[in-house]
Amino acid sequence: MSKIFVDACFGKETPYTPVWMMRQAGRYLPEYQEVRSEAGSFLNLCHDPQKACEVTLQPVRRLDVDAAILFSDILVIPNEMGMQLDFVEGEGPVFEKPIRNQEALEALRTGEDAAKRLHYVYETIELIKKELSDDKALIGFTGAPWTLVTYMIEGQGSKTYTICKKLIYTEPEFMHEILSKVTEVVKLYLEKQIQAGVDVVQIFDSWAAALEKSKYMEFSWFYIKEIASYLKSKYPHIPIIVFPKGIPAYLDEIDGEFDVFGVDWSTPMALAKHYLGDRYVLQGNMEPCRLYSKEATYECVTSIANTMRKGRHIFNLGHGILPDVPVENAQYFVNLCKEVSQR
Ligand code: CP3
Repeated sequence: MSKIFVDACFGKETPYTPVWMMRQAGRYLPEYQEVRSEAGSFLNLCHDPQKACEVTLQPVRRLDVDAAILFSDILVIPNEMGMQLDFVEGEGPVFEKPIRNQEALEALRTGEDAAKRLHYVYETIELIKKELSDDKALIGFTGAPWTLVTYMIEGQGSKTYTICKKLIYTEPEFMHEILSKVTEVVKLYLEKQIQAGVDVVQIFDSWAAALEKSKYMEFSWFYIKEIASYLKSKYPHIPIIVFPKGIPAYLDEIDGEFDVFGVDWSTPMALAKHYLGDRYVLQGNMEPCRLYSKEATYECVTSIANTMRKGRHIFNLGHGILPDVPVENAQYFVNLCKEVSQR
């Protein structure tokens, strides 16, 4: 059976514009909270294929979105490269021993050694594929090397990225070395996700906006393009979505072998359409906080639909859904997107 979501990624005409939400499996759903508390911790949940499969399917049942996204986290990659990872309540992810010198970098597992340790992710994908209905797509994902490396070097989420930036300007070769190692793992990781059955992959570059344009191109976009080219040469039938968050002023330099450009909420859809709409399908981009209000949601969805009325579009939020959004409002968003885009 053809999947409307995959068709839309390739710019084919579809009966309506498909919709999903970044972070759609998560804390705003009471059924997620239940499985999460059974698991004991967030990482336990990521490591348990049965439970991860269950929470992947929850938003599909609740909201009837057109795609499921694999339940996992971007940080399982550095974790399996050998970095101890903890999710500290109120603080988010923490790596006890960040990578700041050659010795620490060389101690990391790389390539196939690291990629094969993520077996629980591939097992989760196989379980999901057995249960997901044929008309829905399964999205696999990774963090972009740059976004992963910000956590690996800073040791936790950062507002300033000072340690990373200092390395970029004082030891650029070191920075490229760590990015190259992470890129190798990411390529194999996504390839194994595809072999396990994902229909689409998305590369999250959540912290793109930390870098000035020329450094963004050199230290992040270059590696995203390398990953996309590698996958396209082997798996041309698998659409690739890229989501670099917060770089509206860099769109004139965006190119590469991917299919869908994820537009974040800070980038006007019309601007993205102007620079990229002919070459790529656009995904996005409602400001997630609009989900607190049905009126604000209505205003934005109709405006996006108007801008994208010729199609080549996938509805989504412009970043992840927040934990305290009423489920009913998420349902309203999904239904409205389908309704306003009926052809
Ligand atoms: O989209 C989905 O539904 C699939 C699951 C998914 C999670 N994380 C689950 C999660 C995906 C795609 C991610 C990606 C991710 N993880 C990103 C990129 C996307 C983005 O939002 O920018 C980043 C930067 C991370 C790193 C990460 N993981 C942080 C900073 C945090 C803590 C912040 C927070 O929201 O609490 C996490 C934890 C996390 N990842 C949770 C979930 C559901 C919450 C954990 C919990 O249940 O306690």
